[in-house]
Amino acid sequence: MKTLIVYYSLEGNTAYAAERIAAELGAELLCLKPVKAYPTGKIRKYIWGGKSAVMSETPQLQPYEYDGGAYDRIVFGFPVWASTIAPPLRTFIRSQDLKGKRIAAFACQTAAGADKAFVKLKGELGLDALEAELTLLDPKTKPNPENEQKIRDFCAALKG
Ligand SMILES: Cc1cc2nc3c(=O)[nH]c(=O)nc-3n(C[C@H](O)[C@H](O)[C@H](O)COP(=O)(O)O)c2cc1C
Repeated sequence: MKTLIVYYSLEGNTAYAAERIAAELGAELLCLKPVKAYPTGKIRKYIWGGKSAVMSETPQLQPYEYDGGAYDRIVFGFPVWASTIAPPLRTFIRSQDLKGKRIAAFACQTAAGADKAFVKLKGELGLDALEAELTLLDPKTKPNPENEQKIRDFCAALKG
């Protein structure tokens, strides 16, 4: 089972989880980067990222290498933005043919909204269910053993 983790991360939490999961699964990583980077910082990120998420934008991505035929499974990773997926994922999903692939996903959030974001993600993918779903609370900035256990359980479910 060859797995690719496709993720976007503004401030490193999703990247941290993606790397942990890749190490456990022996998966490869593809980090999505918008051409126009979203701002970081205390307020601007919520204004610009929040607007982009609420408007369901499809920001242009920097060129990336993706050989769809090389993978059986895609694991999507994203920060929850305004209770939905961070927009760079939408751009990727709409520009690739993912038919026939197993799809799992993990979300990073501070408090709540991942459940709604997974519904949006499934809608975007045209799927009723994902192989596995994982929700983490700021795994890099607020390390805690519960996140680590959830990562292990998610990977164990995918390993079968
Ligand atoms: C624009 C924006 C909107 C956000 N909306 C939510 C939200 O609806 N619910 C929540 O719990 N956290 C929300 N967050 C917090 C992030 O989802 C959370 O900190 C996540 O771990 C960040 O991942 P990253 O470091 O990979 O970017 C939001 C953050 C940003 C920048």
